[in-house]
Amino acid sequence: MARRNKKFPVDRARPERNDAGMSAPTIRRAAESDLPAISAIYNHAVLHTTATYDYEPENLERRVAWFEEHRALGLPVFVAERDGTLLGWSSLSPYHRRPGFRFTVENSIYVAEAHRGKGLGGLLLAPLIQSATEQGLRSIIAAIDASNAVSVRLHEKFGFREVGRFPAVGYKFDRWLDVAYLQRVLTPSNH
Ligand SMILES: CC(C)(COP(=O)(O)OP(=O)(O)OC[C@H]1O[C@@H](n2cnc3c(N)ncnc32)[C@H](O)[C@@H]1OP(=O)(O)O)[C@@H](O)C(=O)NCCC(=O)NCCS
Repeated sequence: MARRNKKFPVDRARPERNDAGMSAPTIRRAAESDLPAISAIYNHAVLHTTATYDYEPENLERRVAWFEEHRALGLPVFVAERDGTLLGWSSLSPYHRRPGFRFTVENSIYVAEAHRGKGLGGLLLAPLIQSATEQGLRSIIAAIDASNAVSVRLHEKFGFREVGRFPAVGYKFDRWLDVAYLQRVLTPSNH
């Protein structure tokens, strides 16, 4: 039986570990006004990490187009916010353009450097899984740089399992990089 009318409960989400004295973050759907901060968090990862194999920071125009595409496809973008500051974001994107792949999506999660390791990754991943399940999707694929132990650990905690690894398919910061593919198979909620 579909749970179509169930209000998504993420606005009540609380981190497992919180900064002492700080209010808990809110997890909510992203709005257009969040895009500069979403882009800034992504661009920091572009310049300083192998979490993404982009080399150059994106411009805001590209992120706006990305957001509009997500809206048109009905795919979610979530943000974590505290006291007006955007701490991180997560999204589902199409895995492949061909229609036979339409029940499979790929996820992204980016937490601002200063706020990593405090449980926000989990708070941003959980609503993606819930949202995908409610939409009747069957699989979420996480393509993770194999050296990114934190991301691999985070996804495994949420039921993702490694299904493949491509050696040396990426190249950044003067080294070859392996990509691990983790899959979360979803249990349909609408059958
Ligand atoms: C990867 C990322 C999203 C994880 O979010 P986070 O809020 O920092 O992580 P969390 O606090 O939720 O912790 C995730 C798990 O990794 C564990 N972890 C932390 N540091 C670790 C390390 N060096 N090695 C292994 N596991 C580690 C945490 O302990 C936690 O597991 P636990 O709950 O069992 O203790 C975040 O660090 C990030 O945005 N990194 C840069 C961009 C990125 O890598 N994005 C993912 C692309 S696939």
